Amino acid sequence: MPFPPPPRPSSPSPSPSLTPQTIVYSGQNELDLTTAASALRAGKLIAFPTETVYGLGADATNQAAVLSIFAAKHRPADNPLIVHLPSAQTLPTLTPTPLPAAATRLIAAFWPGPLTLILPLHPRARLAAAVTAGLRSVAVRVPRHPVAAALLSRAGVPVAAPSANRSGRPSPTTAAHVLCDLDGAVDGVVDGGAAFGGVESTVVDVRGGMVRVLRPGMVSVAEIERVIGESVGRAGKVEPGEKVVAPGMKYRHYAPGAPLYVVRAGELAGEIARWEELGQTVGVLAEAGVASRLGKQVRAVTCGSNGDVESFARELYAALRAFDGEGTNAVAGADVILAVPPAGSGGLLDAVLNRLEKAAAGNGESGVTSGRARGA
Ligand code: TXA
Ligand code: MG
Repeated sequence: MPFPPPPRPSSPSPSPSLTPQTIVYSGQNELDLTTAASALRAGKLIAFPTETVYGLGADATNQAAVLSIFAAKHRPADNPLIVHLPSAQTLPTLTPTPLPAAATRLIAAFWPGPLTLILPLHPRARLAAAVTAGLRSVAVRVPRHPVAAALLSRAGVPVAAPSANRSGRPSPTTAAHVLCDLDGAVDGVVDGGAAFGGVESTVVDVRGGMVRVLRPGMVSVAEIERVIGESVGRAGKVEPGEKVVAPGMKYRHYAPGAPLYVVRAGELAGEIARWEELGQTVGVLAEAGVASRLGKQVRAVTCGSNGDVESFARELYAALRAFDGEGTNAVAGADVILAVPPAGSGGLLDAVLNRLEKAAAGNGESGVTSGRARGA
């Protein structure tokens, strides 16, 4: 690196030691950003904020660097990574042009922003093979977060970046979340405060003249349909062993340590009573109005203000992490977590319900009467 690394805020003069240390860079400091960008170019792993969640970046043209992402996260090798660019300018090096018409429209409407496009992989794309996990497609996004944009333009290489959590855990929305999962396992994290959105980008497949949403996210299906001018497809539920288009969607994900079930507000009292009869300490994740009405024996974590899906999305991963003892709202001792999503459907709630379903995957049904909420 051309510059000495800046000190960690918690330990002003990092002493040389054999224990690997993760350097914390400030997203507000020019020198830190330049140093983090040259570390990326040198093959290091650098986490950084985006408008959705924190990503774990590596030079997408460097196979060894990309493989170290998979190792640090314990991520299955068949789950490809999103390539992050500072602008659409270099897109023709990754995918053949002209782009599909739908891609051109979506790029004009949503980039920079929380939309990932699945495009055909250019046969001569200079990308490490591990990025695309052997697929003939590539996922690309141009983030809007100013710190991500500054880092990517300084890096001068395409940056492969999954969410910067250990595989299976809730995605990180602060630098502290990243350090909790990956301290010592990655070279640096650029601290840019809390991510604005809280859930990941919408992944849209635009190949073959069709538009299909593979993962709901910050950009709603309705917004995409408004831009495309027609209704778009949605990837369905994945059965075990089935081949999926977005390989990441088949895994249990976003999950805290205790088993989680999704219940509706109207079912909550009955569900709490049922679990307590079984001798279980119940944790509840719910918006402020619901969480504040619960009995003292319930381990409650507030997520979002009343009826406000955006704040629920923004706080969701921190709330899930609170059940694992992380953060100022940490709670201990819940044997089971009941998550109550805001009422309604569509828009950002699609993404919230998708993440809660993934966090609950494999836990079976909670309710004696109802089971898991579906799209409620
Ligand atoms: O908001 C986001 O998208 C964040 C930030 C850091 O950009 N990134 C993120 O990455 O959520 P990750 O790796 O956690 O999720 C990427 C998803 C996975 O489901 C993966 O399987 C899918 O995108 N994906 C990546 N490349 C693909 C490809 N070529 N074809 C189909 N799906 C792909
Ligand atoms: Mg992820």
